[in-house]
Amino acid sequence: MSATGQTRALTPPDIAARKGKAPLVCLTAYTTPIAKLVDPHCDVVLVGDSVGMVLHGLPSTLGVTLDMMIMHGKAVRRGLERVLMVVDMPFGSYEASPEQAFRNAARVMAETGSAAVKLEGGEAMAETIRFLVGRGIPVMAHVGLTPQAVNAFGGYRVQGRGEDAKRIRCDALAVAEAGAFSVVLEKVPEPLARRITEELSIPTIGIGASLACDGQILVVDDMLGLFSDFRPKFVKRYADLGQAASAAIAAYAQEVRERRFPAAEHVFGDKPKTVSGGEAA
Ligand code: KIV
Repeated sequence: MSATGQTRALTPPDIAARKGKAPLVCLTAYTTPIAKLVDPHCDVVLVGDSVGMVLHGLPSTLGVTLDMMIMHGKAVRRGLERVLMVVDMPFGSYEASPEQAFRNAARVMAETGSAAVKLEGGEAMAETIRFLVGRGIPVMAHVGLTPQAVNAFGGYRVQGRGEDAKRIRCDALAVAEAGAFSVVLEKVPEPLARRITEELSIPTIGIGASLACDGQILVVDDMLGLFSDFRPKFVKRYADLGQAASAAIAAYAQEVRERRFPAAEHVFGDKPKTVSGGEAA
């Protein structure tokens, strides 16, 4: 039984129906063990292309491939029972044409078992979203700071300040109109995120956006304190597992150097014991 009392797996229509209701709890995951930890507590798990920076040490998400997303998607799937799993479409796998997007999104869904994909972009991606949705592929959209466009933006900057608010608002309206079942709003000014949330009929999922959004998402390694290369203002650390891991590794290293590990309880005798409760062979 999950922390929320829900038993069957959530679907994209379930998520869409949460508009204006209890906040949607969303986190990324890239591996089976983390997926198992996240599943009882969340509504959506995103296999984000942030995996490239977080687990593979890439300088941005631009080098992430479809094969990487599929490999991590399969790993996450094995750890889930009840949340909706969404897999990110990586840079270069969907922008060329709706047909390219369909081919690659269908492969992601068939090979990972995900029920939806996420792709970045607003008005420019509306036709592609409509094409996918019309052919049975639920789409989570992503507007505001879209990290795959970091070079076009000149950095990971807040999007939609001042006059630029109109562009982000049009992007959000366009993806909703095209049939996306939800939309991530990343790094947009709070009043704009609030206004877009009021205007749209689909849930908004904020990251560096607003408390008023219909849900929130964070990169799991950021909130657990496992990834420190890059720490945006919107990340709240709920644990410092990086610090705990570093202390554990240092203790192990010291015990090995001082010949204190392995101790008697970590090694095996000459003959396996035959009586029950004895040591394993
Ligand atoms: O790739 C990712 O993790 C994301 C979230 C930050 C929304 O797109």
